[in-house]
Amino acid sequence: MDNKTKYPRHVAVIMDGNGRWARKRGLPRVQGHRAGVIALKEIVKYSRRIGLEYLTLYAFSTENWKRPELEIKNLMNLLLEYLRNELEELKTNNIKLRILGDSSQLQAEVQQQLIKAVTETANNDGMILSVAINYGGRDEIIRAVKHIVADICAGKAGIEDIDQKFFEEYLYTKGIPSPDLVIRPSGELRISNFLLWQIAYSEFWFSDCYWPDFTAEMFEKALEDYARRDRRYGGVNSAD
Ligand code: IPE
Ligand code: IPE
Ligand code: MG
Repeated sequence: MDNKTKYPRHVAVIMDGNGRWARKRGLPRVQGHRAGVIALKEIVKYSRRIGLEYLTLYAFSTENWKRPELEIKNLMNLLLEYLRNELEELKTNNIKLRILGDSSQLQAEVQQQLIKAVTETANNDGMILSVAINYGGRDEIIRAVKHIVADICAGKAGIEDIDQKFFEEYLYTKGIPSPDLVIRPSGELRISNFLLWQIAYSEFWFSDCYWPDFTAEMFEKALEDYARRDRRYGGVNSAD
């Protein structure tokens, strides 16, 4: 059966398990993050090849600041390296980069690279690759509320304007449909503050595999599983 027509438009991935992948091999955690970037590149490439419209990756949460300073520094350096090395590849593949989260808290150098990559890919329309960095779902909702209140106080909107569609205009994901499928590897069965508003009706796919071991074949398996699910959205199956 060809399930491709039932494939998701938007897949969000919590890239987890890098540290445990490294520990299992007696390596420092940073090597796990390095291996994680290789997996990330494979998944981006595969997603683009199959024509996925939106791929969203959780790279650094608002809670990840609790980690040791050295690990944070390593993660930021890897992000810089990724942006520098992959920008041409993103452009060649017609991928548009979006950043979800509060970048203002990141090092100036990282901010500059992010702006450069977002600007230089802004006109691409092959796939939207959103990377969540210093992102937290609760943080995003509070930020939206503050902006809405400010707009109401400034007379730009009225309370009666607030509905779900209006609210979504204030989220980092503005203009991007909610994820159809959320994938979390590493064996954890939780959301860890990812896209809280947007996942209200998402399908979930969990795996025990650590992120650096995650392959395009596993990704495809997740999409195939998704294609067989019946998304009722609170309604009844059309065959019933
Ligand atoms: C995910 O891997 C990467 C980030 C959160 C930045 P982890 O570093 O959380 O790996 P584990 O969960 O400790 O194995
Ligand atoms: C979630 O992973 C965040 C990212 C993958 C960026 P964590 O490793 O930070 O989540 P917890 O601590 O297991 O909830
Ligand atoms: Mg983790």
